[in-house]
Order: sequence, then structure tokens, then C-alpha cells
Amino acid sequence: MFNDLCCKDKIYRNYVGGEWVKSETSKLISINSPVDGSLVGKVQAMSKEEVDYAIQNAKEAQKQWDKMPINKRATILLKAADLLDEKAEEIANIMVLEIAKDKKSAISEVNRTADYIRFSADTAKNMAGETLPGESFPGTGKGKISIVNRVSLGVVLAISPFNYPVNLSASKIAPALMAGNSVVLKPATQGSISALHLVRVFQEAGVPAGVINTITGRGSEIGDYVVGHPLVDFINFTGSTEIGLRISGITTMKPLLMELGGKDAAIVLEDADLDLAAHNIVAGAYSYSGQRCTAVKRILVIDKVADELVKKVREKVKLLKVGNPINEQVDVVPLIDDKAADYVESLILESKEKGATILEGGNREGNLIYPTLVDNVTLDMRLAWEEPFGPVLPIIRVNNVDEAISIANKSEYGLQSSVFTRDINKAFYVANKLEVGTVQINNKTERGPDHFPFSGVKASGIGTQGIRYSIEAMSRPKAIVLNIE
Ligand code: NAP
Ligand code: G3P
Repeated sequence: MFNDLCCKDKIYRNYVGGEWVKSETSKLISINSPVDGSLVGKVQAMSKEEVDYAIQNAKEAQKQWDKMPINKRATILLKAADLLDEKAEEIANIMVLEIAKDKKSAISEVNRTADYIRFSADTAKNMAGETLPGESFPGTGKGKISIVNRVSLGVVLAISPFNYPVNLSASKIAPALMAGNSVVLKPATQGSISALHLVRVFQEAGVPAGVINTITGRGSEIGDYVVGHPLVDFINFTGSTEIGLRISGITTMKPLLMELGGKDAAIVLEDADLDLAAHNIVAGAYSYSGQRCTAVKRILVIDKVADELVKKVREKVKLLKVGNPINEQVDVVPLIDDKAADYVESLILESKEKGATILEGGNREGNLIYPTLVDNVTLDMRLAWEEPFGPVLPIIRVNNVDEAISIANKSEYGLQSSVFTRDINKAFYVANKLEVGTVQINNKTERGPDHFPFSGVKASGIGTQGIRYSIEAMSRPKAIVLNIE
């Protein structure tokens, strides 16, 4: 398909300064499929000098891009969105192989990304500045007026995780570009081939040379250098809390927007519609094998209705299709690598040793963990607190709503929570007390629709994403003050 970004011997190039370039290091990273180990392709491990070159290109190109009228920038992005829709099937096929996402979810990710790009273009065109009358402040006369407009920040470094290689790259790139910034994208290594195809789409749509550049290579090897680079003006990171903390420790005086880990709770009250709760909980916990920051990662259920809820959840877990996403449409797929599966398995085993009841699953074949439902999880178990990023769901039984809120809030994370109840007053009582970015009433935890604000508190992030919020985060208000006699 894209001959320039690939493909002699499946070796992918990086997009720097408007060209697909080979690394001088000759160091290649093999990307093998988590499904069957087959080679998806090889990406380049860039040197520090090459990273410098990519970031310098972004710095230089940004000025011209910023000067381009916003309606023209929007036209280019709208074209990228259309191209992405056209290539949805092709790009989804790569994602199925590279990150073991099921085909339906992969196509939906690409289409959702096209919608995200369109909405970003439209939103940015419709954002307006403001004028502030000085006279409102004591001692200031009528002649002083501030004209406030948003201006770009410069070079945005976008670092994306493996689980949404297209969407979580584009949801940084599109708002950054619409705000007048240039972008350097460092995708997750496992996921970089999908992300490079996305960048190719922006190129084809007419984003000028140097405005988007890519960096591939292991985060553990080049990450510290990239985030500390003096020409980077803003970092938009999605990934683990561990790496988020590392980046915030290294960077100084650099604005950050970070979406990190989560331990989202589904709180089920006595009066909940238990069928609705069970449906949402199972969809929320097990899709893409729980490898979503917003996956439901614990159930906190009032003891009185726990048996009934657990029965319904269990029935639905039994119906999940498990297997190989290359051959068939499945719900639960192999995890991204063996290390991830080892970790999830260790959480399951520890809970079992400490007396939890494995109701479903608990078994493993290589990196495929079967959907696992664990009842009677207690607060001394790691499964009660740690983020598995895998298809395992702990059930914690509680006596009352305040106990549920207290356990929910004891988590180091604060991304989202759900509350299931038929009583709107109870729903708001719980929602107001939860220390999270978003509370879902009678729904699974989830990021979209993508123009809603999406943020995490505590170890779940810094700042707010969501289309308009992301554009605002990647721009700044600049004031010009009129002083009229
Ligand atoms: P990760 O290991 O933290 O990696 C995320 C990105 O950071 C990758 O591009 C990675 O590159 C890069 N990286 C690694 N070390 C780095 C360093 N020292 N400096 C700069 N960048 C570095 O996360 P992941 O395994 O891809 O994703 C899973 C985690 O992300 C989970 O904790 C999940 O909850 C979280 N997540 C959160 C959200 C959210 O919106 N809140 C969304 C998705 C995922 P390499 O791949 O080359 O190591
Ligand atoms: O893990 C990525 C995060 O942003 C989740 O998105 O749409 O699966 O809720 P979503």
C-alpha cells in the first residue's frame, strides 16, 4: 500500500522533514504479532542525533504551519479524516496483527479516529477569543481593554500507548495541529506500525513537510532523551502511571497533559437494574481483554444483591468468545505480550491463595488469559488495588454505599467510576463523593464521546483531554491590551 514508508524486508521508515527516512544506526526492532509470533514488520531504533533532527524539523516547520489560516488547516485535516475512513479496513488488518485487537474494534477505532479528526477541525474553526473590559477591576477606567486570543505552543511531543495506536496518536496530533503546533510522535513500539500508517494518511492529506515527524525506538532507550529535549514545548502522554511519573520527574518547566492508569470501579447499589449493570460490567471489563485504561477493573456491590448480580455477570462471562482475532471475531484476545500475561496471572494466583473464589477462568495458554471472574476479593489482596490490564474482574462485597465510596476512593487511581442505581438522588450522592475524573451513571466506564472532557485525578493523570479541552491544553491565551484615551 504505502511503498515509501515500507517495505523491503518489512522494514518501516520514519517520517522526518517530509520524507520517509532510514536510520543510520541500522538497529532494527522486530515487531512480532502477539497472536502467533509472526513478524509484522521491523521499525528503526533512532539515534539521539536522529531524534534531534526530527525535533529540529518540527521546530522549523511550525512557524509556517501556524501562519496558515485555520480554515486551510481544517481542510487538510478533513481530507485526512476521509482518507482514514477509506483505509479503515487496511489499517485495521495491521492492528489485528500488531496489537491483537479484534477486527470489529480495530475498524471502529479507525472510524472513530476519522470522526475525532473531523470534530477537531470543526471545533477549532469555531473557537473564538474574547475581549475583557478593564473597567470591571477596581481602579481601572473604560479605556483599557484586553483582547485575548489563543496561540500555539510550538512543538508538541505526542507519546501514545499500544492499546489504541491510531486513536490515541491522532487524538494528540489533530488538536495539536489545529492549535497551530507541529508534532513529533513517539508511538508505543508495539503499535508503531499502525501509527506510522496513520501518519502516512496525514502526509497524503497535505500536511506540509516537517509539521508531523515520527520517532521510533524503545522508550526505555530514547524516552528520557526525547522528553528532556529543549526544543519540545509540550508533552501529551498516554500510558502507564510508572512512565508518566518518570516523565514528570525528568521534565522541568514543560507543560504536561497525561492520561495514565486506572482502577475504575462499578458500584452496584441495592436498587440497581441488575441486568443493565451486568451487561455493562461485562462489556466494560473484558472488551479487548481489559487492556483499556477505562475498563471496569473492580465491582463494589452491596452484599444484599451481590449473589444475584454475580449470577448474571457469570452467565455473561461464560458467553464471551475467546481466541485468535486473525481468524474470527472474538471478545477476549491474547494479551500484548507474555510479561503482561505473567503479571495478570500473578494477581489471580495471589487472590486465590488468600481465599478468593475463582468463579470463571483462571486458566492461561501462552499470553491468552481466559476471562476470569473472582469473587470474595478482600482488601488485603493485590487484585483489589492493582491495575491488571487484562481480562480479570474482582468482586468486592460491601455492606453499604458509604463503604463502597470509601473503598473506591482509597485507590491510588482516579480515572472513572460507574454507579448503578434507579435513584437519581443516590446516584448524585455517590457521584459527588467519588474522587475521579468522570462518573458514569448506569453505564460502563468509557472515554467517549470524544468531545466530553476526559481526565484522571491522583495517579490517573494531569490535565484534561477531549477535543476542545485538548485544543485548549495545547494552546495558550495571549493578551494584547488596548489603552484608549
Ligand atoms: P507504557 O509502557 O507506559 O508506554 C506508553 C508509551 O510510553 C509508549 O510509547 C512507550 O514506548 C513510551 N515510553 C516508555 N518508556 C518511556 C520513557 N522513559 N520516556 C518516554 N516514553 C516512554 O504503557 P503501555 O503499556 O503502552 O499502555 C498501558 C498503560 O497505559 C496502562 O497502565 C493503561 O492504563 C495506560 N493507559 C492509559 C490511558 C488513559 O487514557 N488514561 C489510555 C491507554 C493506556 P515503548 O513502547 O517503546 O516502551
Ligand atoms: O485505554 C484508552 C482509553 O482512552 C480508553 O478509551 O474508548 O476504550 O474508553 P475507551
